[in-house]
Amino acid sequence: MNRTVTKEGLICDNNFMEVIIQPNADIATDLVAQVIANELRANPRLVIGLATGRTMESVYARLVQMHRKEGLDFSACHTFNLDEYVGLPGSHRNSYRHYMNHNLFLNVNVDLRNTHLPNGAAPDIDAECERYEKLIAQCGGIDLQLLGIGLAGHLGFNEPVSSLHSRTRIKVLSPLTCAQNEPLFTPPDEMPRRAITMGVGTIVEARRCLLLATGGDKAEIVARAIEGPVTSMISATALQFHPHCTVVLDEAAASRLQEADYYRWIFENEPQWQSCFNESTASGLNGSPVNPKQRKRVITPV
Ligand code: GLP
Repeated sequence: MNRTVTKEGLICDNNFMEVIIQPNADIATDLVAQVIANELRANPRLVIGLATGRTMESVYARLVQMHRKEGLDFSACHTFNLDEYVGLPGSHRNSYRHYMNHNLFLNVNVDLRNTHLPNGAAPDIDAECERYEKLIAQCGGIDLQLLGIGLAGHLGFNEPVSSLHSRTRIKVLSPLTCAQNEPLFTPPDEMPRRAITMGVGTIVEARRCLLLATGGDKAEIVARAIEGPVTSMISATALQFHPHCTVVLDEAAASRLQEADYYRWIFENEPQWQSCFNESTASGLNGSPVNPKQRKRVITPV
């Protein structure tokens, strides 16, 4: 088995997608927040790739809670968001800058100057995309990339037929993505039809990817992303090539996986394969209890 020791002193195996199925969305969310917190504690200068969407709101709520209750320190980290709508200035209530400020940045001690999103209102979008790529490189690349998944199977806004080598660029949003995100706009037709997004190639260069999906409406696309053939039609399938990708699901989002029992078996019987799961994740956001079997699982320190 190909093993390495991570910065945080844990054993982890390379070259496989780690699929972790949790009993419900709260517990899955809590685990994802715990992974981020662990990496941040191990490296306060962590470069974190951040995602938006409804799923991430509770991850950020949990991180804010950890900052307030446990002193989780964001002061030295840098962040890069996946995407931003073209035409929306950061002050617009539906911009992802606004989302990030209100869900996370203004509620923790991150230095706002270290928080980066593409500028959707830039006069020259191509130059903005180039600038964003350079900035990521100047910061040494992304250490941990948090990801959601859209119903179209996209990472960021890498809509169907996005090259798996693509870099930050402008994308036209698919009808499915528009239908998914329009309800967040008032009126819905105010939603821009274009966005700047990190490319699939940019995303998979992150040292670690961490994808969270919850809810039955994601079950079909999650199964295609994890178990289906790699295709530019579903940009999330590119994660199958990633050397360190953790996918955290609730039971509903995992319900269409063919090999769900296999992933559960690994999680329950190969504790050293788990790069982050410990007692501190023993209760969910609402204090919901974790399956006692899962509570036994611990990180293998070295
Ligand atoms: C948007 C973002 C994606 C995110 C997706 C999922 O499209 N660009 O990065 O993964 O929303 O959203 P939700 O969590 O609301 O399902």
